Amino acid sequence: MGVRKWMKRMVILDLLLAGMLFFLHMRESAESVYTAAAVYGTEGDAAAPPGGAVTRPGAPAERETGRKIALTFDDGPHPRYTVKLLDGLKERGVSVTFFVTGANVEKYPEIVRRMQDEGHLIGNHTYHHIQLTAANGEQFRDEIISTNEAIREVTGEDTAYIRPPYGSWNKKYEEELNMFPVLWSVDPRDWCSDDKACIVSNTVSRIKEGDIILMHDQYPSSVAAALEIVDRLQQEGYVFVTVEELLLD
Ligand code: NI
Repeated sequence: MGVRKWMKRMVILDLLLAGMLFFLHMRESAESVYTAAAVYGTEGDAAAPPGGAVTRPGAPAERETGRKIALTFDDGPHPRYTVKLLDGLKERGVSVTFFVTGANVEKYPEIVRRMQDEGHLIGNHTYHHIQLTAANGEQFRDEIISTNEAIREVTGEDTAYIRPPYGSWNKKYEEELNMFPVLWSVDPRDWCSDDKACIVSNTVSRIKEGDIILMHDQYPSSVAAALEIVDRLQQEGYVFVTVEELLLD
């Protein structure tokens, strides 16, 4: 082959290789941007914090095997809405995860016991729903411990899962307190809308295998939306599991 022809071939190969590398790079950065946005969603009106944990589990190959997703409910239990939600979940045979505050566990122990009896996972959401800041590390740690104690008092079991309010977390607590932080990948912002249809469509249009949906069992619209989300996504072949099952899978 002549030198010119050989060089031409090398240029084509180079271009192909560069194109492939570019494609791989784009795919990777798209994914990492998504993950960051997904994991540091905002809860309430707080800004997304740094330093949380990545909760999206599973390599793509693993995600092919099932279509599991997890519904999570923060801030409860609520004497009326949590009970309504539990009724609806029981009818549908669905397990979810409740991140409860210690104060509410002490107010409504019978609802927490019912959560446990009906196969739901119970996690920690601090005692007074406080946000971890640079200044309140010790108080935050005490709130985690007192909430763990409140949960154990009622259920007889320790929980290893915490959803830190507003997603603010410091990794040092993972080893120190043996707690695993669970953030979320889909935030329907149910707290800022009482429009059930809007909450439902916000969620079902974005859902993917392995997603963790953040909701609050504090509003009638959230409960109604959650049950409709279950009905719609079950029809699409999704299976609702606790975050433990999702993360251990
Ligand atoms: Ni909360």
